[in-house]
Amino acid sequence: MLRFVKGLLFASCLLLQQAASATEGMWLPQLLGQLNEKEMKAMGMKISAADIYNVNRGSLKDAIVSFGGFCTGEVISSQGLLLTNHHCGYRSIQQHSSVGSNYLADGFWAMNRQQELPNPGLTATFIVRIEDITKQALAGVQNGMDEKDRAALINKNIEALKPSIKKEAYQDVLVKPMFEGNQYFLFVTQTYKDIRLVGAPPSSIGKFGADTDNWMWPRHTGDFSLFRIYAGKDGLPAEYAADNVPLSPKHFLPISIDGIEKNDFTMVFGFPGRTNEYLPSEGMRLIVEGQDPARVSMRDAALKIIDGFMREDEQIKIQYAAKYASTANGWKKWIGEMQGVERTKGLDRKVAYETEYTKRLNNNNALKQLYAGVLDSLNALYIKAGPYVVAQDYYNELTRNIELFSFSNRLLNMLNKVKKDGPDSYTEHKELLLKTMKGIFQDYSMKVDQQVAVALLDLYFSTVKSRYIGGEAYQIWMENNKDGKMTANKIFALTALSSYEKFEAFLDQPYEKIQNLVYQDPATRFMMALRNGFVENVYNVNKDIQDEIDQLQRVYMKAQMEVMNERRFYPDANSTMRITYGKVDGYSPRDAVQYNISTTLEGVMEKYKPGDYEFDVPGKLRDLYRDKDYGPYKRSDGKMPVCFIASNHTTGGNSGSPALDAYGNLVGLNFDRTWEGTMSDINYDAKICRNIMVDIRYVLFIIDKYAGAKHLVDEMKLVHPKAKVRPMMERKRA
Ligand code: ARG
Ligand code: ASP
Repeated sequence: MLRFVKGLLFASCLLLQQAASATEGMWLPQLLGQLNEKEMKAMGMKISAADIYNVNRGSLKDAIVSFGGFCTGEVISSQGLLLTNHHCGYRSIQQHSSVGSNYLADGFWAMNRQQELPNPGLTATFIVRIEDITKQALAGVQNGMDEKDRAALINKNIEALKPSIKKEAYQDVLVKPMFEGNQYFLFVTQTYKDIRLVGAPPSSIGKFGADTDNWMWPRHTGDFSLFRIYAGKDGLPAEYAADNVPLSPKHFLPISIDGIEKNDFTMVFGFPGRTNEYLPSEGMRLIVEGQDPARVSMRDAALKIIDGFMREDEQIKIQYAAKYASTANGWKKWIGEMQGVERTKGLDRKVAYETEYTKRLNNNNALKQLYAGVLDSLNALYIKAGPYVVAQDYYNELTRNIELFSFSNRLLNMLNKVKKDGPDSYTEHKELLLKTMKGIFQDYSMKVDQQVAVALLDLYFSTVKSRYIGGEAYQIWMENNKDGKMTANKIFALTALSSYEKFEAFLDQPYEKIQNLVYQDPATRFMMALRNGFVENVYNVNKDIQDEIDQLQRVYMKAQMEVMNERRFYPDANSTMRITYGKVDGYSPRDAVQYNISTTLEGVMEKYKPGDYEFDVPGKLRDLYRDKDYGPYKRSDGKMPVCFIASNHTTGGNSGSPALDAYGNLVGLNFDRTWEGTMSDINYDAKICRNIMVDIRYVLFIIDKYAGAKHLVDEMKLVHPKAKVRPMMERKRA
């Protein structure tokens, strides 16, 4: 009896949890009608699934692009104007900058089409059509097939299918596995290659708060930049040409300047990169108890040293700003992930879920025959993989954060290319490498790298067991008294790779000589010893376990879908187009603390620190604030909105994604998540997981009032969806 009641209680807990997390999920746009439309409408959506994804007419999806393959962007005018984040456009903005015209520091605004700046290599990819090709891809695949044979057969099936796919010559076909390889989807895409920079605010707006505020709420960052998609005269994708024309898109997003309120329905449309929502408990444990602590400890040590130098030395501050930001971005996210899983008892919830799964499986003979033991074996495999996975993380962090090792790597790669192309190609390959190295050394300080090496070598060798390091590297470590300082000092003193001048002099020797000399360089020798030891003792062993994990994870995924069949499943993010929806809502990060939904320019001024590299505020913006010169973009209370949060389920790659209102109008620009909720990649919890967006009114205000680029706002279509509603409400009140 008691057990029965307990079971009921558990089942209702599960259901409750499901209702509460109605906003979990990154859904495939072509399946919304089938899976989500009803719920989306119940939550407030006023359009239909067919308005979001439609192959017969222009729909919302035709305004969304994968921006360069690493971010999302959206078309916001009939002339191909593209909106994305400042941190997504960062590299382009940097590449156009010089000491004389520093667009990162001062911002950049093209006042006419001629001033828009081309960015070779940058792309914008539209999704033309999505098809489920699971049947064709998996034809002939048998249970228990050898993994290599399975992969080869699927590959063959897909290649055989491709010629029959209807598409234009200028379009591409991309196939992606979903649900760990239980399903396959095909994407017909159209990629534009002439993408020009149109506008960017200064970093003191676009990156306001920088690393201190990164992953944090309350946030006050105007994280946006503008580009324009250019096409050939026929409107089709074309390589850059001065006389290309602005794209006339199938659809562009109207912009609502009515603002957002608590509980408003929002959806975020974009290209999320990677999530792991269906791990077994030991897989999740490995991340939060093994991998995250390992990666965080290595980066912690590196960041402390770099920060120390940056605070003392103006030049180092400039040289290391971007590197520091990217190292700190992962570091901070992983800390949030560990803490979030712990605070929400994510592991306990996984274990409870597995208990329920196992109980149901055992009560169903047909399913039991298929899946008995799968979960236990999978958990056991994660335990077995654990030490190797963690050792791999330590190794990756060691070689990533000591830059000198990456110089050795580049040198060896270059020599390999010469080996392949013949000795005559040496000069050409050498020049190419020197060009790259010139750029790298511009932002390099040997004394910083050397100190980082001292700290990371000590940490690496004292933490990672010698059997994962290998004899040769350990030998070198022992020759140096097992001392990071001694090891690093020797290497940095004797290497020929630690400055551009030395590097160039080294490569100026005859190729035959270099071929031998390269292995005598202490940096390269040590790096190779570390790498060989790692490949033999960690990588190769782990790879075999990971193959087994992949296979069982696929079976476990299928089993979950059949056993927990009331649950609605969405495939893990894999850089394909997805839509997620939720509500504008605050949250409580800890006892007695409650966060509001939005921030204003008042908050920017509260954080303002004159001259600070994270919290300075440009004079012009301070003037606009003083005069409350906000134009039509202010809130009804007269304040200038800056950012807001909602319960949309997003991840890396969703940066630059549009936040849309119930009608599909643009209301915000996604750029981050809150720290307490970064665990959403493995453990989404609707109570505290929030995505962070720039309020679109702040974007327009900066373009119009701050930059004086009103002509860009004039290109857009501003709408007032709430105006219709307001008089009615006022009538009611009267
Ligand atoms: N945390 C955001 C994302 O994961 C923004 C990163 C850019 N900003 C920074 N300060 N690093 O990409
Ligand atoms: N900041 C991330 C990005 O660049 C978004 C996120 O992780 O929430 O894609």
